[in-house]
Amino acid sequence: MKKITLAATALAAVAALALSGCSGGERGGDAGGASDAAGFAADSTIGVALPDKTSENWVLAGGLFEDGLEEAGFKGDVQYAPASNTVAEQQNQISAMVTNGAKVIVIGAKDGKQLGTQLQQAADAGVKIIAYDRLIENTENVDYYVAFDNFKVGQLQGQALLEGLEARSGHAAPWNIELFSGSPDDANSAVFFDGAMEVLQPKIDDGTLVVASGQTDIAQTATQGWEAENAQSRMDSILTSTYSSSDIDGVLSPNDNLARAIITSAKQAGKDISKITVTGQDSEVESVKSIMAGEQYSTINKDTTLLVEQTIKMIQQLQKGEEADVNDTEQYDNGVKVVPAYLLDPVIVTKENAAEAYANNPNLLEIVTAAQ
Ligand code: BGC
Repeated sequence: MKKITLAATALAAVAALALSGCSGGERGGDAGGASDAAGFAADSTIGVALPDKTSENWVLAGGLFEDGLEEAGFKGDVQYAPASNTVAEQQNQISAMVTNGAKVIVIGAKDGKQLGTQLQQAADAGVKIIAYDRLIENTENVDYYVAFDNFKVGQLQGQALLEGLEARSGHAAPWNIELFSGSPDDANSAVFFDGAMEVLQPKIDDGTLVVASGQTDIAQTATQGWEAENAQSRMDSILTSTYSSSDIDGVLSPNDNLARAIITSAKQAGKDISKITVTGQDSEVESVKSIMAGEQYSTINKDTTLLVEQTIKMIQQLQKGEEADVNDTEQYDNGVKVVPAYLLDPVIVTKENAAEAYANNPNLLEIVTAAQ
């Protein structure tokens, strides 16, 4: 399927070239032609539209973009969508960035399927779009994607769950587990889940793992808005309906914020959390503390500093009129095109390797050392 899309894209490109040749145009077609070749002024405005602050990484990213863009000589316009009316507010913010003359807009989408109109407006004005952390779907007007390798994040979570079950449950297989996934409006949610299920499904099929609630479909496991309270209440009902007289050995949680909600629910139900394996993602301060205290089992280190640095590097390349570096041209089909991506490597973190994993993060390293 991807090959077909790629071929179609290549054909379209050839057709566009042919057309511009026929019309005798020098700039290769419509909007953006001139700036493609020449780049843009080194002190241009760069928009950064981030979603609501559902994880610490989003909070960190805003500050890092402000400082990093200024240091690189750009004028940064960094905005968060507020927690309520988020989609509409983000749409308005992006439109305003286009109107105000931003040359590149970096977008951490609230709902990656609802930006078509705004991105058409951006393309018409020659503005380049970089999807940041979350893919933007169903539009051709997204130039690049920069993120940690989301599928690998899921695989690492699945592997960590298996390891933790073995190490903590106190008994041999079969193990009872439950599955949680992220918000359906975030393209990452399915990729994390698919990565994890690539590891877990064969073990469910051979009886090593039992999802006792029977809820294995992504629609059943979803956590609307990545809201902790939604995960907590789903966990509460699963524990009541399915585990009143049996043990739960593990939970696949897609991120730290939800992991802590799941742990709270299990503790309130009187479960021994030291025996339950709960995965996570983001290396949030409270989760690193929880891991060191023997509660949450694992997290993922996706160093926001590196992701923001890479994004700014891409912007600098575009400023010079170059193509931005990518290292993946296959994985991220957004429904209309395969978006060229730069993917960074996520790292799994447990109590075992925490000191090593956070060697370059004084804040987290201090928590780890204090707990050892
Ligand atoms: C990010 C995760 C984050 C989640 C909720 C995802 O798109 O990749 O790191 O935990 O959003 O904010």
